[in-house]
Amino acid sequence: MSDRLRLFALKQATPGHTGIGLWRNPRSQAHRYGDLDYAIELARQLEDGGFDGVFFADAPGVLDVYQGRVDPALRDGLGTPAADPIPIVAAMAAVTTRLDLAVTMSTSYVQPYALARTMGTLDRLSGGRIGWNIVTSALDSGARNLGLGALPAHDVRYDIAEEFMEAVYGVWESSWDEDAVVRDTHSGVYVDPARVRPVAHAGRAFRIPDVGPVEPSPQRTPVLFQAGSSERGLRFAGRHAEGVFLSAHDPALVARQVQRGRKALTEAGRSPTDAVFLANATFVVAPTDAEAARTYREEYLAYASHEGALARYSALLGIDLSQLDPDEPLKAEAANGGVPAIQGIVDVFTRLDPECVWTPRAIGEFVAIGGGGPVIVGSPGTVADRIEEWTHLAGVDGFNVADPLPGVTLTAVCAHLIPELRRRGLVSTPDPGFGTFRERLSGRRGARLRAPHPAAVARGAHPMASSSG
Ligand SMILES: Cc1cc2nc3c(=O)[nH]c(=O)nc-3n(C[C@H](O)[C@H](O)[C@H](O)COP(=O)(O)O)c2cc1C
Repeated sequence: MSDRLRLFALKQATPGHTGIGLWRNPRSQAHRYGDLDYAIELARQLEDGGFDGVFFADAPGVLDVYQGRVDPALRDGLGTPAADPIPIVAAMAAVTTRLDLAVTMSTSYVQPYALARTMGTLDRLSGGRIGWNIVTSALDSGARNLGLGALPAHDVRYDIAEEFMEAVYGVWESSWDEDAVVRDTHSGVYVDPARVRPVAHAGRAFRIPDVGPVEPSPQRTPVLFQAGSSERGLRFAGRHAEGVFLSAHDPALVARQVQRGRKALTEAGRSPTDAVFLANATFVVAPTDAEAARTYREEYLAYASHEGALARYSALLGIDLSQLDPDEPLKAEAANGGVPAIQGIVDVFTRLDPECVWTPRAIGEFVAIGGGGPVIVGSPGTVADRIEEWTHLAGVDGFNVADPLPGVTLTAVCAHLIPELRRRGLVSTPDPGFGTFRERLSGRRGARLRAPHPAAVARGAHPMASSSG
């Protein structure tokens, strides 16, 4: 693994994601989240500006935990309206050649056959530049509106996800031999039937009895990302992930998560460096420290919607924070007042900043910008210093760079910060010989996953499926 920092832009195709309420800033481009010209403009900007790729979060369903209604989320365009990121990354692929594209899909909402077809299509379309952020999803409303009733419990969702992976590896890795498409006009054979085989997956949750729908794409299996931090989530990441997304305000907390993640990889029989760890961060950069501080105050904080932030955070936690007095410091004893898991919130926020008295209002102010990662404000030199410090303390391989003020935040990162990071040798252009996302991310040659990863094991079960690549 090379030690250059990986930089991904963190996006969600919705007006309010990591900058809640900032859509009201007249300079914001948040309303263009689903427009083709915006997708094209952004893709070109990120590629030319030196980003490795873009990561699209996605969570179908409405955010209706806060006050038990969807109104506060709708008022700030939080998660609704939201465009489907799949066609957006297809458009981005069309106007770029090197930008890698990671997109979120849930193992709880779709069938593995359908997901494998979509991802296989995108991987081919993009020439091997697709990654999949595997989520098990937590919004009941997503399940409800997709006709599934209530979501299964947390650990059951991970059990289902394990089976899901087995099924998609069957489609991507073992159903088709590398040379199954012969396109022989003389014999009139497009696909040699002897070189394909049924997926023959018959599990508790899914069945794929027939041949997989897509022929091998450049990477076969897309680059696999995951973001769970529970024990079960970590075990899943240890087995499958090539990239792990982390989110915490404090580098020591992130460092602990990285250590746990590397241990999970080892426990799954993989190398601790078989996955890269990427932390969420927001960089508000301007030519001088004073200008950056003013921009942050006047262009970001002045527009933040604290109620919107509480609506988003309530949905993430599954706890209605409106039930609490906005100015009452959170105490563990509140757990006895009928609000479940409050101890968890208190723990998270106390660790974030032990000096601060956390009230629901303070949480709203804190999470409105940046989505829970650090917000680093300053000149390119100041921000680069903090990035060096953070990388060292947290032990991460790179960052998911939030875009709280679309049209402004990432434009400044491209214009001011990346040139400074490049000057310091912290980022560099990946080896031009690396043609795929997997190679660029891992810093190693080879577009396909290798043993002992379970995808490679699935392919190895049929030697002809692994005859090249
Ligand atoms: C940086 C980051 C990005 C995430 N992106 C998504 C997402 O796009 N969609 C989603 O449903 N969940 C997303 N999640 C939630 C995780 O997939 C996961 O469900 C959550 O961290 C809880 O997992 P755990 O119970 O294993 O800790 C994200 C989490 C983090 C930390």
